[in-house]
Amino acid sequence: MLDEARLRDRPRALDPSRAWARIADPMAKVERTVDAILDAGDEFLYEASAHLLRSGGKRLRPALHLLSAEACGADPAGEPAVPMAAALECIHMATLVHDDVIDGAEERRGRPTVHRKWGAHTGVIVGDYLFARAFAILADVAGRRVLRLMSAVVFEMAQGEMAEQRSLYDLDQTKEQYFERVRQKTAAFIAECCRLAAVMAGAGRAVEDALWRYGMGVGMGYQIVDDLLDFTADPQALGKPVAKDLRSGVLTLPVLHALSLPELGPRFRRLLEETAWGQAEMESIVECLAEADAIRFSYDLARRYAEEGREGLAALPPGPARDALDALALALVEREF
Ligand code: FPP
Ligand code: MG
Repeated sequence: MLDEARLRDRPRALDPSRAWARIADPMAKVERTVDAILDAGDEFLYEASAHLLRSGGKRLRPALHLLSAEACGADPAGEPAVPMAAALECIHMATLVHDDVIDGAEERRGRPTVHRKWGAHTGVIVGDYLFARAFAILADVAGRRVLRLMSAVVFEMAQGEMAEQRSLYDLDQTKEQYFERVRQKTAAFIAECCRLAAVMAGAGRAVEDALWRYGMGVGMGYQIVDDLLDFTADPQALGKPVAKDLRSGVLTLPVLHALSLPELGPRFRRLLEETAWGQAEMESIVECLAEADAIRFSYDLARRYAEEGREGLAALPPGPARDALDALALALVEREF
């Protein structure tokens, strides 16, 4: 972790909208590639798997892959960056469709989830289909090392998701267990989206490690913010209902922080035990979080992770793609939805 003085002295990054604008054209190609991959001869599977694609989304993982590729001297609008980025978005969509089945979620990106529209069985199959189509492209463009890294990171995501299931309603879990879950569930994949660009470009271990470190820091910060937006965001902007995590027993950093405080902790614990997990008492729960300054605590920590990620960029050659990655790191932890 970085010390406060160094954090204060760091220059602000560029305007993040310039980072997104930089990759607008290659990203349009990624969208078309994903669409073409999903249109593989089965009309229903195409419609159901493209449902989430058509709901929008930030396209964070392919964006980070494209910018990382450019930072390694590759063409972000060419091969293999575009098909790789498309495969990464398909894998991400597969995990979301499955996650929504697991959570019984009603909405994603402001639209009904696949399983709400077509049933849980379809949700499971569509997730499998997205996953299979992603690996079909990877098999075409990537070598064995990339396939090994991809399967390892999917294994991590599966472990992270299982760890979350095991942790539901567990008031004795620690913040360290939460961080490990976030690493497995989200940050490892984001780190891999960045690192794989260096692997594909043959940029060498030092650059691979730098991009992995960047993605890990950004990924940790991103998920911590995702978790606190569950309490703070406007549900319409977020595209999903608020405090959904806590209501379904998922304890995230603000809650674990409040529980860990010597005075407030025991009182907050009793409140959670006695109130059926926020079904009726969301206001008292939010008051406890405010008393613990838990939202600010979590934001600060997310920012520190993002700053730690930015440090990794020092090992990359300077240039506009590195500046864009730098700009995104802070923007991703300062977002409001
Ligand atoms: C969303 O997080 C979920 C994940 C980041 C990981 C989901 C992983 C799996 C379902 C296992 C692996 C599956 C496949 C097909 C490879 P969240 O629940 O915090 O976010 P949310 O609030 O947007 O649902
Ligand atoms: Mg979820």
